[in-house]
Amino acid sequence: MLDIHLTQTPPPAAHSDCVVVAVGSGGLSESAQRADSLAQNIISTLLERGTVSGEFGEVVAVPLANTSGPDHLLIIGTGAGSAKSPQEYRTLMAAACDRLVQLPIAAATAYLTELEVTGRSDGWKIQQQVIAAGEAIYQVGGGKRQVAKQRPLQRLTLAGGVDCRAALAQGLAMVEGIKTCKDLSNLPANLCTPTYLAEQAQELAQHHERLSTTVLDEAAMGELGMGALLSVGAGSAQDSRLAVMHYRGGDPEQPPHVILGKGITFDTGGIFLKNRAGMAMMKYDMGGAAAVIGTMTAAARLGLDLNIIGVIACAENMPGSRATKPSDVVTSMSGKTVEVLNTDAEGRLVLCDALTYIERFTPASVVDVATLTGACVVALGQHYSGLFANRQELADRLLAAGRESLDEAWQLPLSAQDMSQLDTDFADIANMGDGTAAAVVAALFLSRFAGAYPWAHLDISGTAKRAKPTVRATGRPVPLLMQYLLDLQADSGG
Ligand code: BES
Ligand code: MN
Ligand code: ZN
Repeated sequence: MLDIHLTQTPPPAAHSDCVVVAVGSGGLSESAQRADSLAQNIISTLLERGTVSGEFGEVVAVPLANTSGPDHLLIIGTGAGSAKSPQEYRTLMAAACDRLVQLPIAAATAYLTELEVTGRSDGWKIQQQVIAAGEAIYQVGGGKRQVAKQRPLQRLTLAGGVDCRAALAQGLAMVEGIKTCKDLSNLPANLCTPTYLAEQAQELAQHHERLSTTVLDEAAMGELGMGALLSVGAGSAQDSRLAVMHYRGGDPEQPPHVILGKGITFDTGGIFLKNRAGMAMMKYDMGGAAAVIGTMTAAARLGLDLNIIGVIACAENMPGSRATKPSDVVTSMSGKTVEVLNTDAEGRLVLCDALTYIERFTPASVVDVATLTGACVVALGQHYSGLFANRQELADRLLAAGRESLDEAWQLPLSAQDMSQLDTDFADIANMGDGTAAAVVAALFLSRFAGAYPWAHLDISGTAKRAKPTVRATGRPVPLLMQYLLDLQADSGG
C-alpha cells in the first residue's frame, strides 16, 4: 500500500513532486489559486488558452521546469457549479488517482478535500480519496505481469485536519479489506480451494490478538448433520470446509454480529452442468466468502470494539460419480429435508447449514453475502446488490451503509406469495422454484433457515465482479459491510 498522510499546509506542499488541485469551468479552487500564483500563473494561462477547460473529469498533468516547487501540477476539472454529488466526487477521485499512479513521481499532495460534496464531511472525502488511491494501485496477482512498469508513487499526502484522522484510518482499513477480497476472488480455482480459503481464515487469526479461527472439516460437519452443505462438494475431489472467525472486540456479554459468505470455489453447476459460455467466471462464486474475510481483515486492523463472527461456507460444485443428483433428498443440520431439484442451486445449500450452525452464537444480527442468482443480475445489474431481510430495521441499516460508502444495495421483497414455489411432496423443502422471481425464491429458501435472529441476505452476483474491460473482482461489498459495522460501533457508543 501507499504511504498516506494528512497535511494542513497549503500549496506548495513541502517535499512533494506533484501538487493536485481542482479547477472548475467557473474558475480556480482556493488551492489552485495558490498553486497558480506560486507557479507563474500557469493554470490561469492554460485556462485562457483553452489548454485546460475545467470541464468535469478533465485531468491535465503539467510538468513544471525551473521552479523550486513541485515537478508537476495535476489539474482536475470539476465542471460547473460548486457542490458535487457523492458519486461525482468518487468519479473525480478515481480519475485523479488513476493518472497520478502513471506519472513519474514518487510523492504527491492532493488538495481535493476542499471541494464541496453535498451532505458529506471532510472525513468522508478523505475516505473516498484513500479508497480511490487503493483502487488505482491495485494489480491482479500482485502485479506479477506488470513488473516492467513499476509504480513510482510511494507517498500520498491529502489535505485534511486532525478531525480526519479517524476517517484516514478507516479508509486504510477498508483498502486492506478490499484488497484481500479482490486477491482471493481473482485467484484461480485450482489454487483457491475450500481448504485454501479456510487456511486464509486461520492465517488471519495469526496476525490479530482478538481473532481466533475454528475450521470444520467434512468429518466434523458430518457429525453435526450438515447434509445440505456436504451434498454440494460430494462430486469434488476437494474437501468442503466451514471456517468460523471469532473477533472479540466488545464486552464478552455482548451478542455478536455474524457475517456469512458463500464460498463456492468453483461452480460448474454440478450434474446440472452450466454451458461453456462464461463458466470460467464461476471461479468468482466464492466472492461472498472473500468479502467476509476482507471485512474481518479490515475490522481487526481497525480494532472495532464489537464482537463479530465471520463464517465462510466453502465447497466446490462438480459433477462426478459421487455428485448429488437432481431429485436427491438430503437432510440439513436443521433437520429439514431438502429435495435437490437443481444441483446448480448449490449456494443456498451450503448457506442453510451455516445459518443453522450459527444459532449457537445467539447473534444480534446475521448478514449473509452470496453470489446466489443470475436472476439478481438480470433484475438489478452491476451497480446494486440485492438486499432481503426479515427485519426492516436491519435492511434500513444496510441500505444506509451502502449509500454512505457508495457500495449500494436495493431491497427486494421476501414475498410470502412465492413461498409455495418451494413446496414438494418428497421433502420439507425444494431447492428451487418454478424459475420466476428466482432471486426472491433463493432468499425465501434461506429465510426458512434464518428464523432465529434478525437476518439479511445480500445477493452480490452482479456487484462482486465487473466484466469490463476484463473480468475482475470489485472488492464489493466490503465497503458496505465495513460501514455497517462502523455504524453499529458508533451506535453502541464506541
Ligand atoms: N453462482 C450461481 C449464480 C450466478 C450466476 C452468479 C451468474 C453470478 C453470475 C448460482 O449458484 C446459480 O447457479 N444459480 C442459479 C439458480 C437457479 C438454478 C435457481 C441461477 O442463477 O441460474
Ligand atoms: Mn450454481
Ligand atoms: Zn453458485
